[in-house]
Amino acid sequence: MRWDPTRYAAFQDERSRPFHDLVAQIGREAPRRVVDLGCGPGTLTATLADRWPSAHVVGVDSSAEMLEQAQMSADAASLTERHPNLSFELAAIEDWTPTASDDVVVTNAALQWVPSHVELLPGWLAAMPSDSWFAMQVPGNFDSPSHALMREVAAEGPWAPALSGVLRADPVLDAAGYLELFEDNGFAATAWETTYMQLLPGEDPVLAWVRGTGLRPALAALDAVDPTGELTAAFEDTYAARLRQAYPHGPHGTVFPFRRVFAVAHKR
Ligand SMILES: C[S@@+](CC[C@H](N)C(=O)[O-])C[C@H]1O[C@@H](n2cnc3c(N)ncnc32)[C@H](O)[C@@H]1O
Repeated sequence: MRWDPTRYAAFQDERSRPFHDLVAQIGREAPRRVVDLGCGPGTLTATLADRWPSAHVVGVDSSAEMLEQAQMSADAASLTERHPNLSFELAAIEDWTPTASDDVVVTNAALQWVPSHVELLPGWLAAMPSDSWFAMQVPGNFDSPSHALMREVAAEGPWAPALSGVLRADPVLDAAGYLELFEDNGFAATAWETTYMQLLPGEDPVLAWVRGTGLRPALAALDAVDPTGELTAAFEDTYAARLRQAYPHGPHGTVFPFRRVFAVAHKR
């Protein structure tokens, strides 16, 4: 499934705030290596390279399109040219294992795409060195109207056969679940959730938001069976109409509440 870095970057400010709220809780002074799992276009990974200039910072992502974006930039100097301590690796999170010098692991808005992460975490945590930190953030919006309506519309129109089984079940724990998981595995953990009231501009902004992330599996499945694009357009029109009712446009824009789940843990 391809990612579109331009579409993803459309709400860059709203998408970056949870990252900064997350990494603010990491207490490590001078890590040797810092890994950003599911780093996307790399702009946020570069802030880790700025924070820890003596560390080797590695962004890991399975999307060639996202990593290509990380190698380019408007002012001609790529992120890696501007940050000599930063590099990127094309790899699946499922295949990653920590090295003995991975003192900080950050993963922001990525583990919801890795349903096996709850089973993988104990092995990762066991392999990390003492005094290391693991910081993660995942969306906790599976039951919000944006996602419930997506599943509802996907199940009921002429597109339903193409979308059957495509929209995944909720792959994340709640904050208490991650807290216990980290504590069970020898880390002192803190976990919390925040609902960001995002004020989005423009027409159908919630549709534009989910097109960059959660709607992608449905769009990819429709793309495979819909050469004219008519079925996709009809699906999006129906979904957009319901989103407009759930998230009405107000005098200042559209308020889109977005719940996110955070956990930051320090190996004893
Ligand atoms: C919503 S983006 C988040 C990007 C970045 N961390 C940020 O906060 O802006 C999710 C990223 O996870 C990556 N991803 C999804 N599943 C993955 C997997 N199994 N292995 C590696 N990367 C994955 C995607 O390619 C995408 O770049």
